[in-house]
Amino acid sequence: MRLENKVIIITGAGSGIGKETALLFAREGAKVVVADMNERAGEETVVEIKKNGEGIFIKLDVSNREQAKEMVKITLEKYGKIDVLINNAGIVQDAFLSKMTEDQWDKVININLKGVFNCTQAVVEVMMNQGKGVIINTSSIVGLNGNVGQVNYAATKAGLIGMTKTLAKELGKKGIRVNAVAPGFITTPMTSNVPDKILEMMKEKTPLRRLGEVKDVAYAYMYLASDESNFVNGAVLCVDGGLVI
Ligand SMILES: NC(=O)c1ccc[n+]([C@@H]2O[C@H](COP(=O)([O-])OP(=O)(O)OC[C@H]3O[C@@H](n4cnc5c(N)ncnc54)[C@H](O)[C@@H]3O)[C@@H](O)[C@H]2O)c1
Repeated sequence: MRLENKVIIITGAGSGIGKETALLFAREGAKVVVADMNERAGEETVVEIKKNGEGIFIKLDVSNREQAKEMVKITLEKYGKIDVLINNAGIVQDAFLSKMTEDQWDKVININLKGVFNCTQAVVEVMMNQGKGVIINTSSIVGLNGNVGQVNYAATKAGLIGMTKTLAKELGKKGIRVNAVAPGFITTPMTSNVPDKILEMMKEKTPLRRLGEVKDVAYAYMYLASDESNFVNGAVLCVDGGLVI
């Protein structure tokens, strides 16, 4: 019960890494708020949580500031506090720069970067009043190393590292820790269209010679969400099998 009675909001918890994290956290005693724009997927996560834990679904598009505020209101009405926010929701819209449309650029910036601003700003006031809180941002090794065809995505994931380090400095004195996780290549619906040839190449390049699983990232989130990481602030934890070393 490493997260007993903690109230934890996870954006994008209807699928992939976020869903696995929601189920793990519920088993560890957390009250989990599954916040996702996909209603059916989010509700399904909650049905699974309720088999042996506690959680609610809140429909949220992170790029909508009013919905982010509403999510905080509903969470406080239900659970009375917010211990942890995981800004996990994210999308890809890949294209080479020469072919990328303005819409592809704007969508990824609005969800991956502005969405984190929206949710964090909505939650932080509550955490400041509590005198404590934890924020975890989901970056990527693409934000550290770049990746062909992902100029929009890489810009957001690099931007999140800047936000994480800045907020760690701004909010530390208020008792709020802010850290980032930078996953490598993880098998989820987001990466399901990647050709086998590329997957094999990624495995070859990774010192641990495998792709990541959702639980690899979920356990990293758990460390940063728990009191075990009480003196960790402004860190970027790579979960990539050693790919970027
Ligand atoms: N899978 C990887 O290899 C990998 C690697 C590095 C970083 N990441 C990051 O990890 C996070 C989770 O990725 P995943 O692979 O589990 O993806 P996924 O596509 O399986 O899940 C993403 C979830 O986010 C939700 N979502 C999308 N847009 C949203 C919005 N505007 N508001 C609210 N919810 C929204 C989706 O409905 C979905 O449930 C993302 O931020 C992603 O960029 C993934």
